[in-house]
Formats: sequence, C-alpha cells, structure tokens
Amino acid sequence: MRILLTGGTGLIGRALCRHWLEQGHELLVWSRRPEQVPQLCGAAVRGVARLEELGDIELHAVINLAGAPIAERHWTRARKALLWESRINLTERLVDWLAGLTRRPQLMISGSAVGWYGDAGERQLREDDPPASSDFASQLCIAWEESAQRAQELGIRVILIRTGLVLARDGGFLTRLLPPFRLGLGGRIGDGRQWMPWIHLQDQVALIDFLLHHPTANGPYNACAPQPVRNAEFTRNLAQALHRPALLPLPAPLLRVGFGELSGLLLGGQHVLPERLSAEGFRFRFSELPAALADLLDGNHAER
Ligand SMILES: NC(=O)c1ccc[n+]([C@@H]2O[C@H](COP(=O)([O-])OP(=O)(O)OC[C@H]3O[C@@H](n4cnc5c(N)ncnc54)[C@H](OP(=O)(O)O)[C@@H]3O)[C@@H](O)[C@H]2O)c1
Repeated sequence: MRILLTGGTGLIGRALCRHWLEQGHELLVWSRRPEQVPQLCGAAVRGVARLEELGDIELHAVINLAGAPIAERHWTRARKALLWESRINLTERLVDWLAGLTRRPQLMISGSAVGWYGDAGERQLREDDPPASSDFASQLCIAWEESAQRAQELGIRVILIRTGLVLARDGGFLTRLLPPFRLGLGGRIGDGRQWMPWIHLQDQVALIDFLLHHPTANGPYNACAPQPVRNAEFTRNLAQALHRPALLPLPAPLLRVGFGELSGLLLGGQHVLPERLSAEGFRFRFSELPAALADLLDGNHAER
C-alpha cells in the first residue's frame, strides 16, 4: 500500500513506519522537517514539506497523527492556539488537499485521545458514551475528530483512535517519569484515585495496523489496554518494576499552582475500555501493566 502519514516523525509515527517498511508498504511523511524523515522514519521513507509536491498521487490510506505535544508546556493562550492549529487547522488543510485528488484514498485513520471524554471520575467509558465533562483537552479532541470526519463527505472512511498514555522504551510519558522514579523520588499524583488508561507502543502500532486491514472499521476506537489502572496503582507498579520506593506524592494544590489548567490533565482521568477493538477481534499483547512495564524496562531489547 502507499500510505501518507502526518506526525510520522513522532513516537507512534516512527514505530509505525518501522513496522510498515518491514511489511513492504510505500510510505510518505508530511513534515516540517522533511530532510530528517529518512533518518527518523527509515531510509526508504520520503519526507515532503508541502502536500502539493505529491501532485495527483494515488494513496491507499492516510494516517493523521501530527500535533504539538499536549503536556509539555503551560497552557497559555499562545500554547493553546498552537495545540489547536497543529491539529485542527492541519487536519483541515489535509482534508482540503484530499478533496482535490482524482483518486482519493479509501481510508483515513486520525488521531484523538482518551481526553475526548473529559474528566469522567468513576464512570466506565465505551466508544458510544458522550463526553463526561468539558475542559480544553476534551474540546481539542472533539474539534480534532470533527475536522477529520469531514473526509467522510469525500467518500473516505474515517477511523478515530482515542489513545491512552502510550508507554514506550524511548520517548513519551514513561521516559519523562523514569528519572525521578529511579532516584526514589516518585509518587502518586494528587489522591492517586484518577484512572490512567495506558497502552504499550507495540499494541498501539498493532491496533493501527489491524484497523488499516479491517475493511469495515469506522468511527471512534478506544486505543488503550483492557485493564486500565488508577494513578496510585500505576505509581506502585512502576516503583516495583524499578525496585525503588515511591513515597513522595505530588499534592494537588501544588500541581495546580505549578501547572495551572494543565494540572487538570494529571489530576483527572478516564476509566476507558477498548470495547470496539476487543469486540472486533483485536488481541492485546500487553493487557496488564506489570507485564508491559517489565517488557519496556528490560534493558536487553531493542526499541519497538
Ligand atoms: N503519545 C501519547 O501518549 C499520546 C496519547 C494520546 C494521544 N496522542 C496523540 O497522538 C498523536 C501522535 O502521538 P506521538 O506521541 O507520536 O506524538 P509526538 O511524538 O509528539 O509527535 C507528533 C508529531 O507532530 C508533529 N508536530 C509537532 N508539533 C507540531 C506543530 N507545532 N505543528 C505541526 N506539526 C507538529 C511533529 O512532526 P514533524 O516534526 O515531522 O512536523 C511530531 O513528530 C499526537 O497528536 C498526540 O496528541 C499521543
């Protein structure tokens, strides 16, 4: 297949490219740094700075993952504008360009996050549940999904992947947590009762590949392991995997002062279940957090 990716240079995108190159697919990445694409994504992957460079190309699928990192900086007005522009405006440009192709792709798989549901407390969330509350992350994901769904009007099937925290060996949330936890300075966030849907990078790649090959897949899919944990359990499991104590909780008031509105992302949570993936036959390799952490923290494997 000939597949175009946005965000192909990111954590998930790079792993997808590695996987799909091995399968013999032809890959193109729309990027702000096209010259780095072969090095980051694989020598055979072509980077393009402008979609127009591709002419009237025939694509089989588009994977849309681009977006500025959500939890990296304070949500100032300028940062919120960038988070919005790099997802919603970018997706609109992508869909506008797809509209001009003579032979449009059949499928677009577009990014989203479990934050779509807002902070949902104890409620279990399946794909047909509405958002539980409205915060900036939820509004961002709702608008991101809506901008992608416009591609349906072009006859393109649209799949939305509401992704949990992606756990990887090199990059993402886990990598940022490791330094304090390795020093024994880790601890739960707030009261630790908030749910933390998570997914091993290997399963994230496998489920996107599964959806790519599933001819009737359509609409939103919760992309997280079938056994989500609360923050306190995550903290305990990570500390055990590293053989360190984790006794220093991050108190909610301190977090609110330090992180402002962004603290809501860490103090809130969603008890999300991958109902549709399980019902449609996807089998998770890592369903339980201790096994996922053991795999990722074992230094003897190459990154996957
Ligand atoms: N990783 C997670 O835990 C997680 C969880 C839920 C949802 N998601 C979502 O899934 C998507 C992929 O995740 P990821 O972890 O692979 O992301 P990532 O590593 O942060 O990479 C995202 C890519 O987006 C592009 N990008 C970054 N800033 C941009 C900007 N200002 N304007 C335009 N493009 C920009 C970059 O591509 P170029 O530099 O090539 O342009 C980057 O490689 C993201 O949109 C993320 O929000 C991720």
